[in-house]
Amino acid sequence: MKFVLASHNKGKLEEMQSILGELGVEVVSQSDVGLELEPEENGMTFAENARIKAQAVMEASGLAAIADDSGLCVDALQGGPGVYSARYGGEEMSYPEKIRMLLQTMQGQTPRTCHFACHITCCFPNGEVLDAEGKCQGTVAFVPMGEGGFGFDPIFFVPDLKKTFAQLSPEEKNAISHRGNALRAFAEQLKAYLEK
Ligand code: IMP
Repeated sequence: MKFVLASHNKGKLEEMQSILGELGVEVVSQSDVGLELEPEENGMTFAENARIKAQAVMEASGLAAIADDSGLCVDALQGGPGVYSARYGGEEMSYPEKIRMLLQTMQGQTPRTCHFACHITCCFPNGEVLDAEGKCQGTVAFVPMGEGGFGFDPIFFVPDLKKTFAQLSPEEKNAISHRGNALRAFAEQLKAYLEK
């Protein structure tokens, strides 16, 4: 069975392919099926945004479509930036600047607990929908640390490992990350769906 990933992000495609490939499914990108579509992510939750993207790509391609939506949720900021993570400080602002702004906002704030959240939705042409979620708990580091990963990784500190996401190898990050957890939960659901 062929699935279209509602994203242009190569890293996400590789992660999906490596976990879902084990189920014998093929995951291709929007570009592979010639879809330039950029649906407006105007949902209030990760689930709503994932659904908007998966539904739009399924309708445009006629194929089963998978989308994910994720973000950093900081307890002292009432769960922000959350669904606005990519737009924090404006879409044009670089990540080093976004990180600087977040660290400034966090000055004197307690607690520094936070989590990354990821929601995955798969829409099938017959109207069926699968949903899965993953989380990873951490704290907001006081200074950026590490060179790996992307986005807010340099300030996402994992207390058990005493390292930020940016100090982990891709394999170490996948093993505990919100996206890794959501993908594994999704793979379980997809397996059950395909065996129906
Ligand atoms: P999207 O799900 O691709 O729209 O990502 C939303 C935003 O959340 C990203 O642009 C990052 O700011 C943040 N984010 C999501 N997952 C991660 C991660 O694993 N590391 C760092 N930042 C992330």
